[in-house]
Amino acid sequence: MPRVVLGVCGGIAAYKAVEVCRRLVDAGVHVAPILTDDAQRFIGALTLSALASERAHTSLFDGPDPIPHTRLGQSADLVVVAPATAKLLGKYAAGISDDLLTATLLATRAPVLVCPAMHTEMWEHAAVQENVATLRRRGVHVLDPEEGRLAGGDVGAGRLSDPVRIADTALALLAGNHALTGRTVVVTAGGTREALDPVRYVGNRSSGKMGHALANVAARRGAHVVLVTTANLPATSGVEVVRVESAQEMHDAVMTRSVQADVVIMAAAVADFRPKAPSPQKIKKADGVPDLVLEPTTDILAALGRAKRPGQVVVGFAAETERLREHAAAKLAGKRVDLMVANDVSTSDAGFEVDTNRALLLGADGGADETALLTKEQLAGLVLEKVAALLSGPASAHPI
Ligand code: CTP
Repeated sequence: MPRVVLGVCGGIAAYKAVEVCRRLVDAGVHVAPILTDDAQRFIGALTLSALASERAHTSLFDGPDPIPHTRLGQSADLVVVAPATAKLLGKYAAGISDDLLTATLLATRAPVLVCPAMHTEMWEHAAVQENVATLRRRGVHVLDPEEGRLAGGDVGAGRLSDPVRIADTALALLAGNHALTGRTVVVTAGGTREALDPVRYVGNRSSGKMGHALANVAARRGAHVVLVTTANLPATSGVEVVRVESAQEMHDAVMTRSVQADVVIMAAAVADFRPKAPSPQKIKKADGVPDLVLEPTTDILAALGRAKRPGQVVVGFAAETERLREHAAAKLAGKRVDLMVANDVSTSDAGFEVDTNRALLLGADGGADETALLTKEQLAGLVLEKVAALLSGPASAHPI
């Protein structure tokens, strides 16, 4: 049963959260409500406790659970905040966690849907708009408020989105999050090593962290994951790990496994060239400077694009040091992939070796989303949301 944490803030629209809760429960969702202190001035925790799937939570410290925010955040498939006040948006955008709801928002890796509601002047204030833009860039889903009658008889933009729409959006996000359940996902990770002789190789700086994050998050979302990797990093239990070293070994492992796969994600940095005639014995210094003759490797991603079945989703990565969008778009079209995750590897906080990444997500449908600086796990979550949407959407953009 999918699990939703439903956060309720203190605003006149708090009473509409009751309807959102009821609709989600009716749709077979396990709902865990969290009310802020201010929310309890508008509606009683008892009301939500009676309708939801578990007692409403109101404090970081009161209940029997010593760490409720991590339990609630980690077990959620989706967090919905309705209504979300200007205060909540500001705290969330600034990373402040001073109560159970804000702590849960920081502790979760699940998708988050916020539904703002406030007076028009507050909604249109530059501070609120910038906070909303920040949250959107981080991958938070925002259901804009509607025009209509507000508290005190005013009319304008700021009214909480209709509870039916909130519940439907939440269910659609859950469906996306569950679209990977039972699917087979092949992920590659790390940089390949091309032997010069039995002790030396030509390699690159890829650590494999991004590919491992993708594999782990996909596995947590219910996929059967085959991780073809050169990296010696941990993988979540259940992930089938295939260790390889060279581009050729990676090619062979991926091409065999991808026949049955619903999704193939090429996050690995595959060598474009390898030594043409690796020496069977260690090259000796006394023999002088060797001539290095290279030959091209097979482009695995391009081969996957050519062999793609209808409905199969192929994702590529583009590591660039200049003209990111242009180069990535050319690779997207040239290799016939559905989604290209492009990153500028010349910056110090994104790309190779580091734990964070900032990416441009280019879709074959022309869509382009630039992300904020995210952890590789967060970026993996966003990429997999896009993959889930492609799996449940119309057939891929490059039918064979
Ligand atoms: N790729 C691949 N096989 C190769 C080379 C690259 O499958 N022999 C894949 C990578 O895993 C990545 C995508 O192709 O998903 C783009 O890799 P990248 O190194 O950015 O681009 P290249 O096509 O190699 O072009 P260039 O190195 O000239 O930028």
